[in-house]
Amino acid sequence: MKEKKEGFVSIAIDGPSGVGKTTIAKSIAEKLQYLYIDTGAMFRALSVRFQELGLDPADEAAVCAALPDIALTIRYEEGTQHMIVNGEDVTDRLRTEDISRIASVTSQYQKVRSRLLEMQRELARTADVIMDGRDIGTVVLPQATLKVFLTARARVRAERRYKQLVKLDKLEGATLESIEKDIEERDYRDSHREIAPLKPADDAVTIDTSDLTIAEVEAAILDELAKRC
Ligand code: DC
Repeated sequence: MKEKKEGFVSIAIDGPSGVGKTTIAKSIAEKLQYLYIDTGAMFRALSVRFQELGLDPADEAAVCAALPDIALTIRYEEGTQHMIVNGEDVTDRLRTEDISRIASVTSQYQKVRSRLLEMQRELARTADVIMDGRDIGTVVLPQATLKVFLTARARVRAERRYKQLVKLDKLEGATLESIEKDIEERDYRDSHREIAPLKPADDAVTIDTSDLTIAEVEAAILDELAKRC
């Protein structure tokens, strides 16, 4: 067993949309009493404001011009992350297909990413954290104690997202097929963008979750953590 690293422990969980990052990271955070940080929610919270302003997500200049007027803060209530935009708690508005699309497009922009990067790093300086996103192991926390890259087949991820949207009553006319198509488009955009594309860090442990239960994925991650701490 290796010697425990100094300072706070950080676990980076990266992977494409709908792979189960949030469910797994939340559950591990609860077990280990770590702070769970959902970085996708930060991109989504900015997107709520872009949507309210009626901006075309593809218009980089207009999106970036709106950034200085957005006050973004995070509040933790009983371990649950709440996103506050210009004083309003927008947490309940983050998980729609429209916001998913706006976040995927606008997260390509350097100014949007650098706006959130320091905030993400600062959070990891304050506690033991498990942080999920696309570039946590590669860019945000390159010194993370453990880096995990989760994958799953697109169809499996679409089915999971479909069930989640049904449960939240947020289907808004989407079908399993349309969700799968959106997921594939977002995967492509997230992994082909110039800045901080979705990809495993060289030292990440990759886990295909397609045929695993949540408990099995969790156990695999805790096993890897035990090797490092
Ligand atoms: O994880 P999520 O689906 O909530 O993320 C929403 C979008 O935000 C996703 O399409 C890509 C972007 N994102 C990112 O670029 N970098 C992160 N660390 C997290 C999310």
